[in-house]
Amino acid sequence: MSSKNHCRFRVTSGGLISGRITVPGDKSISHRALMLGAIAEGETKIQGFLQGEDTLATAKAFQQMGVDIENDGNLVRIQGVGLKGLCQSNRPIDLGNSGTSVRLMTGLLSAQSFDSELIGDKSLMTRPMLRVIEPLRTMNAEIQCSDRGTLPIHITGGRQLKAIEYVLPVASAQLKSCLLLAGLYAEGTTTIIEPQATRDHTERMFKAFSHPVIREENKITINKANRLVATDMNIPADFSSAAFFIVAATITPGSDVVIGNVGVNPTRDAMLKIMTLMGADIELLNEREQSGEPVADIHIKSSPLQGINIPEELVPIAIDEFPVILVAAANAQGTTRLSGAAELRVKESDRIQSLLDGFIATGIKAEATDDGMIIEGGRFQGGEINSHGDHRIAMAFAVAGMVSAENMVINDCDNVATSFPGFVELAKQAGMDIDYV
Ligand code: S3P
Repeated sequence: MSSKNHCRFRVTSGGLISGRITVPGDKSISHRALMLGAIAEGETKIQGFLQGEDTLATAKAFQQMGVDIENDGNLVRIQGVGLKGLCQSNRPIDLGNSGTSVRLMTGLLSAQSFDSELIGDKSLMTRPMLRVIEPLRTMNAEIQCSDRGTLPIHITGGRQLKAIEYVLPVASAQLKSCLLLAGLYAEGTTTIIEPQATRDHTERMFKAFSHPVIREENKITINKANRLVATDMNIPADFSSAAFFIVAATITPGSDVVIGNVGVNPTRDAMLKIMTLMGADIELLNEREQSGEPVADIHIKSSPLQGINIPEELVPIAIDEFPVILVAAANAQGTTRLSGAAELRVKESDRIQSLLDGFIATGIKAEATDDGMIIEGGRFQGGEINSHGDHRIAMAFAVAGMVSAENMVINDCDNVATSFPGFVELAKQAGMDIDYV
């Protein structure tokens, strides 16, 4: 394997995906389990925790603030310090590549008695933070950031937050969760109105930690908390990681795979609807509930795909899956149109541009718009692409390599470890012809 910062993948076509596989734990749920476990009373034990760089950055941040977190690589044990038990970190908190960590923690730390400084890597330092800072300021938080509205963020402690009613101006679960975490500490009743549904893991997890949440249509209400009660969690496999194998199996003839124990929360699973509209053969088996989250085994068989107009209302519920959905579209018959997805421009990279660059470099006709893309289905020719340090771009093009005329080489793949440690090994085991170069 190449050294850090030079990790590259090479994928050769011809493989197919078969057998039964399990992908790592859900990233969104792992972050939230750490955060709530840290401020709960008692011990929280987490199974299925994602051992990725993003979630480990969150764990380290809470350790820096005095929380005892033991992680043996399998089970994570958190000794909760209670709502007011966190201590000031003696150095800036570095959240690496993780937008979820910084946005959720800005809400939580705005309500603490001490000051905090949050920083991140090159990508995170450019991502928009005013979306969380502005509503937190109206809750009486004191927060400074760069002139561009980015990290570093400095939070002044000792402020009593006040509850607000707030309509989310962007469909963002990170923003909603940030305000709900601040709402645990705010005087009064915090109400969030979300015009479009976004992932609801925070609301589900508040309930698991014994804090009531009321949901009426698109309105979410919580009161200031007296305490959270520790609980044990068994985190399902990450749907967003399973997505790479859902597409890989669909587009490689002869594939037949079951991905076990995957989270299929209805606020996350629109990719299944989009793929089904395109003609994919996907079946949910053994549907059940685990730690308050819907879970299933996903059975996929290969199937030809047609281009579609992706329904805009599905976009926020499939937001992380678009890199690989658009790879599926590039391999489909006909044209696929995506719109209403401007948020893709402010992810770990500008995903519309990163995908466009990758498509053009590998022989696919595509056109970017402000909020989406138009893709002509065709055949990937292969070649060399840059992931722009974006884990999901790297994995999406690895999947494309399975159906390329020539080898696909993907540069700058280190950040795959932020969400999917062991991707190459698992992909190989499942039947992808992939290697480090
Ligand atoms: C996440 C929410 C989404 C998603 C991200 C994880 C979360 O971001 O893209 O990977 O855990 O709340 P936005 O809230 O910015 O859409």
